[in-house]
Amino acid sequence: MNQQADHTSRVATRDAFRHPAINGWALFWLLATPMTAFMILAALRFDLSSPDGVSHMIQYSVRWAVPFIYFVVAASAMPVLFPGTFSRWWLRNRRYIGLVFAVAMAWQGAFIFIISNLHTGYYYEDVYALRDELEGSSGYLFLAAMVVTSFRAGRQFLSAAQWKLLHRSGVYFLWAYPFSVYWWNLYYYKSTAAIDYVFYWAGFLVFAARIAAWGKRRWPHQLHESSATSMLWTSRAIGASLIGAGLVASATGLLWQDTVSTALTKAPWSAQLELWLPFWPFEPFLPLVALGIGTWLFTGGFAADSMDSRSGAPAH
Ligand code: HEM
Repeated sequence: MNQQADHTSRVATRDAFRHPAINGWALFWLLATPMTAFMILAALRFDLSSPDGVSHMIQYSVRWAVPFIYFVVAASAMPVLFPGTFSRWWLRNRRYIGLVFAVAMAWQGAFIFIISNLHTGYYYEDVYALRDELEGSSGYLFLAAMVVTSFRAGRQFLSAAQWKLLHRSGVYFLWAYPFSVYWWNLYYYKSTAAIDYVFYWAGFLVFAARIAAWGKRRWPHQLHESSATSMLWTSRAIGASLIGAGLVASATGLLWQDTVSTALTKAPWSAQLELWLPFWPFEPFLPLVALGIGTWLFTGGFAADSMDSRSGAPAH
């Protein structure tokens, strides 16, 4: 009887998540319409003839956009980490969530257009203007290419491999932009604003979820193998320490940002790169790199890779 009730409730949940109102284009409109309404209401409240008002709108629109790119980044990891109807719904609708992000970014683009035409020079005294511009423009180029190739008409110009490369690098880039903005806000500008914490930690968590999902997929290959035990345990111990170090580093940027930035930009070529190369020298991402290498080692490192190749198991 209980089993029957359990089954019925699972079917009901599955059906609910398949409801047309919360899938595909309906979901897109469900999210994009209220967002656009809020955007218009906010634009009416701020004085768009003053640079401060437009700047507020740039900030306001981007804060709408950020959660959606984070949802897109986490989408592929969710069914691996939390198999179920909700995570499958999430992954299935990734494209539409990405398009909602694009709408919010189009609003930001419109306000950027207004500020650069009506209030030229407002941001130009910024030391890193060139680098910021390159980061931002690359982001918009990625976004435009991704939107166009989300539709069949645009998709036909790319092979499957090119499409995957574009969308994967675009999603990483568009995640990296806000994630690093909020990292710098916390660990350089020493912001204590709640929104900076929320957006930094959400950005960290969604990427950490991808690493965890990748680690989980690697995991079973070496569980049954006994021959490489000591190598495996050494790898696992170093991996666990690196994961621990990455987690500590992610929460303690204030303690190491200055030293690490100074060390990484000491060489003149590196200091030059910092002026224009997006994200260089990648300080916000170092804890995640530690987490990634740690996960690779924890799940067997070379030992697992060599077992995969010996057993002919596909590499993930
Ligand atoms: C050429 C393109 C871009 C320009 C000129 C630009 C310009 C700006 C400006 C002027 C601000 C500061 C608003 C303020 O006064 O507080 C800002 C904030 C921000 N932008 Fe952009 N942006 C561009 C592209 C992007 C892209 C592609 C992203 C990726 C998602 C992005 C994410 C952000 C974030 C996260 C903030 C901080 C918002 C906050 O304070 O919470 N921007 N942008």
